[in-house]
Amino acid sequence: MRSFTYTSHQQRVIFGADSLHMLKSEIEALGLSKALLLCTPEQRDQAERLAGMLGPQVAGIFDRAVMHVPIETAREARQVAEKLGAGCAVAIGGGSTTGLGKAIALVSGLPIIAIPTTYAGSEMTSIYGITEAGIKKTGKDPRVLPRTVIYDPTLSISLPLASTVTSGINAIAHAAEGLYAQDGIPSWT
Ligand SMILES: NC(=O)c1ccc[n+]([C@@H]2O[C@H](COP(=O)([O-])OP(=O)(O)OC[C@H]3O[C@@H](n4cnc5c(N)ncnc54)[C@H](O)[C@@H]3O)[C@@H](O)[C@H]2O)c1
Repeated sequence: MRSFTYTSHQQRVIFGADSLHMLKSEIEALGLSKALLLCTPEQRDQAERLAGMLGPQVAGIFDRAVMHVPIETAREARQVAEKLGAGCAVAIGGGSTTGLGKAIALVSGLPIIAIPTTYAGSEMTSIYGITEAGIKKTGKDPRVLPRTVIYDPTLSISLPLASTVTSGINAIAHAAEGLYAQDGIPSWT
């Protein structure tokens, strides 16, 4: 008999084409207030689409997410969230944008809703990474786990082919790692 210790994570997952439209009702269902929308400069149009859907539920847009979450960007985003009185953050994008949401949640506990547009999978982990003085440090904290993940497959259509291939291989690597991870979901097969 194999012994194990497993910590389950409580998360809501919404999946489906055009499920993006569930965001407004999801914010209400979770009892959250004004959302700070997070994105990269390249995905500003998608964040603006969300802003149009949410109307007065939006606190603002922070569009400066970059890869590996530089500490300066994290600090700036935390300040913007505080200044705007955001009650939650909605990260629309890949692992870099989700990672920025996690960096905010790490210090403020701000609830995060993730809307992934790549296959990085960061939205499903409580692992965060922040880069300071050129060194990326990672850690684990339950506060950074997004409350809800909205998977809308139509959002991945705009991902360039080269990124689709590398992101897809990243997803396959994560699946393979799940076979031997020490903290994986117990499986007997
Ligand atoms: N914490 C975790 O568990 C975890 C897991 C996986 C990856 N990561 C981190 O995530 C980062 C990489 O994330 P990534 O590979 O998703 O890339 P990314 O988030 O950096 O995105 C790369 C580029 O693609 C653009 N993009 C993303 N989706 C798009 C779409 N649908 N259409 C058009 N453009 C789109 C982005 O705006 C960005 O310019 C790394 O920092 C990595 O360490 C963290």
